[in-house]
Amino acid sequence: EKPWRDVIKATRLEKNWVTRVEIGPRLIALYDTPSGIYASLALCNHGGADLCDGYFDGHVIECPLHQGAFDVRDGTPVSAPATRVMRVFETRVENGMVQVRI
Ligand code: FES
Repeated sequence: EKPWRDVIKATRLEKNWVTRVEIGPRLIALYDTPSGIYASLALCNHGGADLCDGYFDGHVIECPLHQGAFDVRDGTPVSAPATRVMRVFETRVENGMVQVRI
């Protein structure tokens, strides 16, 4: 089983928006939402754009390059040209720190 890693203080997340972090060599997008914090690979699986530069609304991240979109809760593609499930990771908050299982 993958370990939980401390990533960022929860208070440093942009509220209801996406925050870019690095975990080891990987760029990860953290999404703050009213129903919790979600995490995905930051680079879009369609053409490699940085989703952290996209538009985030509710639970949907829209890619800045071709406007493909994903539901951040489970990675489901919800708008073309995105067709493949986005890689997502479990998150939790422990002692004020966001942790990601990765
Ligand atoms: Fe994200 Fe094309 S790179 S939709």
